[in-house]
Amino acid sequence: MPSTSSPLLPLPRTPATSGVLETLAFFRDPDFARRRFERYGDVFETTLLGQRTVFLRGAEAVADLFAQAEAVEGWWPESVRVLLGPLSLANRNGADHRARRRVVGQLFTAAALKRYGPGIVALVNELCEELRSAGEAVTLAPRLRRFAFQVIATTVLGLEGADRESLFADFETWTRGLFAFPLALPGTPYASAIRARRRLLQRLAAVLERAQAAATAGAPLAAGGLDLLAGGLDEAGLPLADADVVEQLLLLLFAGYETTASSLSCLLLTLLQHPAELAWLQEELVALPWPPHPWEELAAYDPVRAPRLDAVVKEVMRLTPPVGGFFRRTREPVSLAGVAVPADRVVQLSIAATHRHGAASEDLEAFRPQRHLGGGTTATLLPFGGGERVCLGKALAELEIRLLAVGVLRRLALTLEPGQDLTLAVIPSPAPKDGLRVRAAAVNSSSH
Ligand code: HEM
Repeated sequence: MPSTSSPLLPLPRTPATSGVLETLAFFRDPDFARRRFERYGDVFETTLLGQRTVFLRGAEAVADLFAQAEAVEGWWPESVRVLLGPLSLANRNGADHRARRRVVGQLFTAAALKRYGPGIVALVNELCEELRSAGEAVTLAPRLRRFAFQVIATTVLGLEGADRESLFADFETWTRGLFAFPLALPGTPYASAIRARRRLLQRLAAVLERAQAAATAGAPLAAGGLDLLAGGLDEAGLPLADADVVEQLLLLLFAGYETTASSLSCLLLTLLQHPAELAWLQEELVALPWPPHPWEELAAYDPVRAPRLDAVVKEVMRLTPPVGGFFRRTREPVSLAGVAVPADRVVQLSIAATHRHGAASEDLEAFRPQRHLGGGTTATLLPFGGGERVCLGKALAELEIRLLAVGVLRRLALTLEPGQDLTLAVIPSPAPKDGLRVRAAAVNSSSH
């Protein structure tokens, strides 16, 4: 435990016992955690689905949690744990976890991202063309989901055509089971998801085998980045088994697709709802080239060249983080923000609440990208988590978001269709309830 001069406070608890009402409120009330933080403080315990769960928010709790990494381990609800699989790095800890992070991290180095850049630009142009030629209002959120899926499936895994389509269909079935009740009775979403998992693993194994065969035959560089995984070693220094690599690939689809799609929908929605901030951003974008010069995709819109874009992306992720919180389990007693948390508790760090928690003088409910320029904000930002389990795909997600934002906003003028529900469904990731209906018209400024 971190040393502290004052005695630790006991853990505040909500009156919940069975947790049934709390669980219903958790799924229905977008303000679930915030109401309880206001009542019980920055660390409190309640019961969800029969599981004692400690909620945390704020800079102090975040710093204390990361500082006591040895006393906690990764934790996922049963359905997620089973569907990700026993070999997944998400379900591993310690040296096992670190070894697999090193291997998978090869897919997201600057050199790897440089390779993906042209493919992502082509996908952005394809999407813009599809929207421009639609001639009627389009529902944008599902198209952004498809775009985010294609980035991983095509540019990272190297899949094309029929392979990619069948993977997409099974993947959607698998995703629906993730947050379903984990009872594998025939006909339930969870049972369908378990079957889809088996097919996904087979398909991913075939993709990996093809990439390995091409590498062994000295064939020209395969599309995608799977050759970068060659030579990956486990915690004992032995080559990673194919079955192990395949489960890590499944994790990448899970971790990288819904999240990025959500951030893209929220970014475009928020800008369309805030015309003054959109105009402010456009002043910067019109001075930037689209498409970027070949092989400069990584740097063309980075925070130095496009500080307003960076501020807008940060502000959207602050207010609507794609991952609202993450879990850990305490192995030993820990002290979090001056509160004693016993061993064997599930802890949920609320990213969403932490992002809105700072100095009373700063209006953290307002959308104000300018706060990230100059002095910055008093809130702690961690949309990609932190510590030993910080997001592995952060650089890819940021690249994808920047390229899509510049491409779409440079090439198209979007307007919101009237009469739609723009409020956000929050589980699993924030997304506009009616799917974000827009009209797109071409803007005459394609080259610079
Ligand atoms: C805007 C998009 C994204 C957001 C907001 C996001 C957020 C996060 C967060 C908060 C975590 C930490 C979870 C924890 O501490 O338990 C995480 C972990 C992870 N993310 Fe992302 N992510 C995004 C995109 C991606 C992409 C594109 C990929 C890869 C293709 C990816 C791969 C991963 C992996 C593999 C982990 C697990 C790391 C570990 O357990 O060691 N993410 N992400």
